[in-house]
Order: sequence, then structure tokens, then C-alpha cells
Amino acid sequence: MPAIVVLGAQWGDEGKGKATDLLATNETIDFVVRTSGGHNAGHTIVVNGEKFATHLLPSGILTPGATCVIANGVVVSPEALFRELDSLVARGVDLAPLVVSANAHVLASYHATIDKVTERFLGNAKLGTTGRGIGPTYADKINRIGIRVADLFDEELLRQKVEASLEVKNQLLAKVYNRRALSIDAVVEELLSYVERLRPMVADTSLLLNRALDDGKTVLFEGAQATMLDVDHGTYPFVTSSNPVAGGVCTGAGIGPTRIDRVIGVIKAYTTRVGSGPFPTELFDADGEKLWKVGGEVGVSTGRNRRCGWYDAVVARYSSRVNGLTDLFLTKLDVLSSWERVPVCVAYDVDGVRHDEMPMTQSEFARATPIYETLPGWWEDISGCREFADLPANAQAYVRTLEQMSGTRIWGVGVGPGREQTLEVPPSVG
Ligand code: GDP
Ligand code: IMO
Ligand code: MG
Repeated sequence: MPAIVVLGAQWGDEGKGKATDLLATNETIDFVVRTSGGHNAGHTIVVNGEKFATHLLPSGILTPGATCVIANGVVVSPEALFRELDSLVARGVDLAPLVVSANAHVLASYHATIDKVTERFLGNAKLGTTGRGIGPTYADKINRIGIRVADLFDEELLRQKVEASLEVKNQLLAKVYNRRALSIDAVVEELLSYVERLRPMVADTSLLLNRALDDGKTVLFEGAQATMLDVDHGTYPFVTSSNPVAGGVCTGAGIGPTRIDRVIGVIKAYTTRVGSGPFPTELFDADGEKLWKVGGEVGVSTGRNRRCGWYDAVVARYSSRVNGLTDLFLTKLDVLSSWERVPVCVAYDVDGVRHDEMPMTQSEFARATPIYETLPGWWEDISGCREFADLPANAQAYVRTLEQMSGTRIWGVGVGPGREQTLEVPPSVG
């Protein structure tokens, strides 16, 4: 299985960190690669009861034996990168080797400044970004005024690029947002301060990964964010500024689509979302409160409460389709213990019309109300189960029904945050 993609099938925080860590521990994985997003991600890994969170670093950083790669599609804040590395070292983690693409775009402190002032300016219409500067860095990339990692190693070129990049931003900051303009010298100085530590990590990661695949090595692409946050396929404009879908792995890493063998969608047994935007199955009642509480649904990066709702099979089918999923990893099934009945959204009602697939427009999606099928629940604590057959019959039936509704095989189920709290699901018969 040389190239495996792990990605989020909903609105993020599905348990991609756990899935990546699990695969990196159980299989022989040579490379763990991030291809999109930046330190807006928050991936939790629980090893022997100890909790770790990765943001910009691939979760493989905790697995000695695999080389970690931050590929060209990621936006890299060197400050966040070093902070994260230092905090793991301070906890005594034996870090895996790390390689950073020379073509990755640099996220500087001014990107975070612009992210925050833009959100404030939008008021009630704000997107609820993580405030890390992700959108402004991708905007610079697309506007062709971005600064890439390789540019840091040529001071003269760097100064020219910073000047070009700040020209319009300073006008905006001063004249629209009523803020002080940024000093070019200070920005150049900030960026140069990262050079020495960054230099030994930088390489042509597309070449590295293609050669690794040629040599039969196994490469795991760890998704960040998720399908419904994809700038093309998500709930635009309430999305992130990158392409977390499977296709984004190719552009984000510089590998061709023919190299990918397996695409795993990580999906919660219910749904959560952080930030603004439509969410048809969102609950505002005691069930939503219970999911939030039992699921511990608080953001790893920003500490914001996640909005909670029931499983949405329309989203699951859509994710399967736009990503070409080969299988699903269903997480947090344990959270659903102790419900008499569990509703699952099978279609939407939009202005009296039933939609079995994602509506074509976002305005229709924003008006979609869920059509539920209700499945029998279970009361047993399942967090100690290690075989699919150990699950109560209704929990097994829930997984099998979701599998049918989602149109993709479920290969694994999470019954707790720990690495070992995972069950393999035998292929369904018939
Ligand atoms: P990611 O961003 O997709 O990596 O997910 P997050 O780490 O942001 O959020 C997932 C949360 O669920 C973390 O706190 C995980 O430790 C936790 N988690 C993952 N899988 C399971 C599971 O099967 N059961 C339970 N109870 N928690 C899980
Ligand atoms: P992981 O990898 C959940 C959301 C933000 C906001 C929108 C845009 O942990 O699943 P941005 O800062 O990216 O411009 O914010 O995207 N968002 C996430 N939500 N999990 C994430 O990452 C997210 N990364 C961004 O809350 O709604
Ligand atoms: Mg997360």
C-alpha cells in the first residue's frame, strides 16, 4: 500500500490525528506528510493515556521510524513550527526527522494581524476563522505576492518580496482598518531570524516523495481540516482557504493522482463544526448538549466549543464522492452509548423538496432541514471493546447501517481516544 491518504470527511476534528497515529504505529510507514492548511489544525493523539496535540507538524512526529514532511501546499509559520517542536522536546518526545518544502509559503505575523482585523471588520458576518493568518497567506499565494520558504535564504530577494507584499497591505491597514502600517525592516528581520534553524530542514519534497514511492516506500498523507471546509467543495464562504480534499494532496505534495492507492475518510459517528456556517443536523437541545459534553467537543487549537449534531449521511456520501474514498474510519462511537434511539440524517428537505444528494447551491444548503431515520441505541459502555463482535448488537447495526447509507466500507471504528481503543470491522457479507 504505498500511498495512503487520511482526510476529514465532515467539518474537521473527526480524529484524523488518531487515525494517522494508528496507521503509523501498526503499519510500516516511511513518511507522514502534511499537504495543506497550517497551524489552524489541531490533531490529538493519546499514547498510553498521555495526550499530545499537533498543529503544523504531521502526527507522525511522535512515531520514531517515519520521516515527517511539510509539503509545498502547507502554509508554514516558522514561529509556530519552532514553538511546536520545542514544546514536544520539552515533554521528552523523541522527534521523528522533519523535512520542509522549499516551495511552501511562509505565514508571517502580519498574516495573522490581517486575519484578525478582517474578521473584526466583518462583525456578525465573520467566518469564525482560527485567526492564525491562514486565509491571508493563501490569498498572497494566489495573488502571487507570497513569500516562499526558499526566499528566506536570499536576503535581497526577500526584502523585495516583503516590500511588494506589504505595499497594498499597509494601505489597507492604515486607510481601511485604521491600524498602524507594518515596518518592512521589522518584517524582514523577523523572517531572517528563522533562517538558521530552518535551513537544514528544507528540501525539494516533491522529488523526495516521488523517489520514495518509486522505491516502494509507504507514504501516509495526513489531511488537515476537512471536505466540508474545502474552498471548492465545502460550505463556501464558510470554509478554510485550501483544498483538504483528496485532490489537494496531489497539488499539495507534487505527486500524481495515479500514485494514490487508498483514501481513508475519517468521520465521527455524529457531526461537529467549529466557526460559522450552515450545519443542517445541528442540535440546540439537550441532545446537542449531551453530545458536546460526553464527546468533549472543545477545539484543540482555539479552545472554542464545537457545535454538535447527528450523523449526516448526505455529507458522508458527498465526501465519498468528491474524495473517491476507498474506506471510512468511524470515530467516537463510544460517545453515542446511552441513547434510546439515534437519529441519522438520510436526506434534506429544501423548501418542501426532498434532496438525497447535496443541493447544488449553498443558499439551498443553508435552508436544508434534515430528514431523519431513527436507529435503536445501546446502553453499554463500549470503550473497552476490542473486536467488532464485542459491540452490542445495536451498535454493530448502527455501524452497518451507516456503511450502507454512506456508500463506503467502514474498516475501523474508534471507541475511545487511545491508540488501542480501535476495532477493525470485518467486510460486510451480502
Ligand atoms: P482531528 O483534528 O481530526 O485530528 O481531531 P481532533 O483531535 O481535533 O478531535 C478529535 C477528538 O476526539 C480528540 O480529542 C481525540 O482524542 C478524540 N477521539 C478520537 N477518536 C476517538 C474515539 O473513537 N472516541 C473518543 N471518545 N474520542 C476520540
Ligand atoms: P483540523 O485539522 C475544525 C475552520 C475554522 C473556521 C474555518 C476557517 O483540526 O480538523 P481558517 O483559520 O482555516 O481560515 O478558518 O475553518 N477550521 C477548522 N475547523 N478543524 C480544523 O482543523 C479547522 N481548521 C479550520 O473554525 O470555521
Ligand atoms: Mg482538530
